[in-house]
Amino acid sequence: MPIYQATASAPVNIACIKYWGKRDTKLILPTNSSLSVTLDQDHLRSTTTSRADPSFEKDRLWLNGVEEEIKDGGRLATCISEMKRMRREVERQDPSLPKLSSYGVHICSRNNFPTAAGLASSASGFAALVSSLAALYSLPASPSELSLIARQGSGSACRSLFGGFVAWEMGSKPDGSDSLAVEVAPREHWPDIHALICVVSDDKKGTSSTSGMQRTVETSTLLEHRIRHVVPARMKAISEAIRARDFDAFARITMQDSNQFHAVALDTDPPIFYMNDVSRAIIAIIVEYNRVSVANGGKLKAAYTFDAGPNAVIYAPKENLKEIIELIVHYFPQAEPFKDPFGLFGTVGVKDAIIDGFNAAVAKPFGVGAVKGLIHTRVGDGPRVLSEEEALLGANGLPK
Ligand code: DP6
Repeated sequence: MPIYQATASAPVNIACIKYWGKRDTKLILPTNSSLSVTLDQDHLRSTTTSRADPSFEKDRLWLNGVEEEIKDGGRLATCISEMKRMRREVERQDPSLPKLSSYGVHICSRNNFPTAAGLASSASGFAALVSSLAALYSLPASPSELSLIARQGSGSACRSLFGGFVAWEMGSKPDGSDSLAVEVAPREHWPDIHALICVVSDDKKGTSSTSGMQRTVETSTLLEHRIRHVVPARMKAISEAIRARDFDAFARITMQDSNQFHAVALDTDPPIFYMNDVSRAIIAIIVEYNRVSVANGGKLKAAYTFDAGPNAVIYAPKENLKEIIELIVHYFPQAEPFKDPFGLFGTVGVKDAIIDGFNAAVAKPFGVGAVKGLIHTRVGDGPRVLSEEEALLGANGLPK
């Protein structure tokens, strides 16, 4: 009896133009287009193994070692049944193929970053799930076609089907068939874009993206203005900035759009606050860092962006990362030595340094643990199909 199994990994993405609001909550159709940078899977990824077998009585899924319920009509069930539907179509066209679409599947998924880090894992998770099933079922589907299915798992997941710089076009059809991800530029176009993720300590349970954005749609008048008059022009302008490798424009738009996303969260009734004092201090530091550069006749050197939580992601050209890390460590001393994947600091480690002309009073220094971790990464590639050695399911079809 042959074994039908495939393993794939998929990246995290962090939006520059934020998705916030659905016009259809079941199909997950957004109220505006969005655009993100895919981060490098060498540092952050979800890996998923899928196996189909006629002896499996039902579909089962394990996430980071714990079995999750696949609820009828839920997001997981929708993605799995959509993938089986695509396989059925392939089997119909070539009746000699094994009828994998009628078998149960076992799916085992793992993130290489702790869920407690507060990084969105649903995007990489659903992208890896869809990619591994596409490999298992040998589907002739393009990344954009697969993005239609990942989107129904979690909206932002559709953008993790591509590497580089990715747009999610909102589309206009009621069935969602034109609401999909497209590549704006591959990572090779602008590999110089690096990212520093500042993992900010957070003890309160925040509002989830799903429920928060729904409340914004129902109560915010500012959202209407954003959707109609702001995002369409920004999508165009940031795509042009990416094509021209114009970091100054890219940074300006990214920061403006993060600010406006948090403004519509505040405009929600009752209001939603995702950023905290640490987040705001990071904004002040980046604003001052850019001010010094512009005052000296230069351009913007870094851009901050925040999702539905207090963590900051700082995008910058590689050459600026050393200064940025030193600045952040000055205000937010680290308990652990900085993991230096690009070898910026040699054996001496990060020194506590502030650049010339920087007004240190823009933020107060915080204690150890306010920023509990720093992850330095860069723009990365799209989902990868992995070899049998990397499978997460053992010979018995259960997690290893
Ligand atoms: C702030 O994709 O997590 O990160 O579609 O309900 O699963 P659901 O929401 P999700 O929302 C992400 C919101 C965001 C902005 C973004 O990634 O564009």
